[in-house]
Amino acid sequence: MSDTHDPLTALEALREEARLGGGQQRIDRQHEKDKLTARERLDILLDDDSFEEIGMFVRHQATDFGLDERRPYGDGVVTGYGTIDGRLVYVFSQDFTVFGGSLGQAHAEKIVKIMELAMENGAPLIGLNDSGGARIQEGVVSLGGYADIFHLNTMASGVIPQISAVMGPCAGGAVYSPAITDFVYMVQGSSYMFVTGPHVVKTVTQEEVTSEDLGGALTHASKSGVSHVTAQNDVDCLLRIRELLQYIPQNCEDPPPRVAAPDADPDPDDTLNTIVPENPNKPYDMREVVNRVVDPDSFYEIHADYAANILVGFAHIGGRSVGIVANQPAVLAGVLDIDSSLKGARFVRFCDAFNIPLVVFEDVPGFLPGTEQEWRGIIKHGAKLLYAFAEATVPKMTVITRKAYGGAYDVMNSKHIGGDLNFAWPMAEIAVMGPKGAVEIIYRKQLAEADDPEAKKDEFIDYYREKFANPYIAAERGYVDDVIAPEQTREKLIRGLEMLKNKVVNNPRKKHGNIPL
Ligand code: HXC
Repeated sequence: MSDTHDPLTALEALREEARLGGGQQRIDRQHEKDKLTARERLDILLDDDSFEEIGMFVRHQATDFGLDERRPYGDGVVTGYGTIDGRLVYVFSQDFTVFGGSLGQAHAEKIVKIMELAMENGAPLIGLNDSGGARIQEGVVSLGGYADIFHLNTMASGVIPQISAVMGPCAGGAVYSPAITDFVYMVQGSSYMFVTGPHVVKTVTQEEVTSEDLGGALTHASKSGVSHVTAQNDVDCLLRIRELLQYIPQNCEDPPPRVAAPDADPDPDDTLNTIVPENPNKPYDMREVVNRVVDPDSFYEIHADYAANILVGFAHIGGRSVGIVANQPAVLAGVLDIDSSLKGARFVRFCDAFNIPLVVFEDVPGFLPGTEQEWRGIIKHGAKLLYAFAEATVPKMTVITRKAYGGAYDVMNSKHIGGDLNFAWPMAEIAVMGPKGAVEIIYRKQLAEADDPEAKKDEFIDYYREKFANPYIAAERGYVDDVIAPEQTREKLIRGLEMLKNKVVNNPRKKHGNIPL
């Protein structure tokens, strides 16, 4: 406490003390690790001069293990609200310089207060995590504090967007708050998440592993899929979160923000007409298709390093926010497997919860066969993607660029599960299965008896391809609404979004569905 008698000077002295957190030495240590402090992070995340702090003078009431001698203001977390591009957000930023950002009762109560305000006022919650976990000296009270946060994370899910940046350690049960939120950002080299650290892993399983390998940013971006975006450093992470906000609404009742549409390009992009190779087995990059269709430089990819056989992310089309889900024929021929189904399903559900129309680019040869996939449950995991598309009530549009085979045809936002506008490019192949597989089954007998089975097979394949491997049979039935030149795609989607902007569909009343988890 300052000993001055002037109240204003005393107040400023207290604020100064609070702002210093764990003191200059620990701030220096934070900087040495290429990490910013809790307050420096908020300065970058929020619009200039927009941050209003709540609870700066909160202190813990604990007494054990000498805590009564150390009662820093703020209790290791900076909480409040501010704006990003003028829009309200609620924030908490853990201060590693105070008890290693560890979470005790007062710390948890500050976060809970912010979460309640965010929910009541319908604005996104952004948590900057940098913490040694449960504050050991406070024991079970810390665990209770975590559970209060987990409970509110769950209640807020689908009500307001929740974004977690992991910018330091995040271990033990503490990982479950970010895990429940909508998007997890991690910083390469300085953040990690795991349920049990390398030391416990070694004791239990005899595995030797570093923190980085076990739960660093790259591990979670590529292997586990726990993290959605990998940042190079703190500044990159915070700027990317600001960018994300351009695509998502404040809450589940609001529409997503609209940005200025780029000037209409008088010439359609005819490169699209030749992007799909003539040979149906040759790959091409669906990312290029997406980039050519959406507003320039607007594709904001989520989970870029995970299950690369499907692409998901936000974009603007004519200034409107959309969620893109696209098979990627350049990776595993764009097949659907467990990881890509999970990746797609979670993204679809976010978009549906927050009124973001879905645009699907489809080139899928089917689900990945094999014991590994079957035994790990491709049936229940593939069903998640199916379920997510089927229950989504936002505007839903599909563009079949090439293959749409088998169950995967149904799953990828087909007309039958509620696609509002389904387009196919002229080179699309829509059928139960690919020509070769189909011919080997339906002509097995004829092929066995043929003098020249290979020549006969080619003949049957040509026949099958002509009969089935095209978009017109589906178009005849109305399963696709139109067959379009690839270069028309952007215009069709812009008009479709405009036409569907007031769509209202209500699923049957229920407590909640039972998605196959
Ligand atoms: C209290 C803690 C703390 C904790 C760190 N500190 N973790 N204080 N409770 N959990 C304090 C340290 O005492 C130290 O205080 C300061 O934070 C910085 O810690 P260092 O160890 O010096 O820093 P560093 O070398 O960078 O290591 C960081 C660390 C390490 C890897 C996070 O501190 C660590 O392993 N901490 C324990 C992590 C842990 O096991 N937590 C419980 C997980 S279980 P001074 O005063 O010296 O600055 C859990 C359950 C949650 O969280 C359950 C939810 C249901």
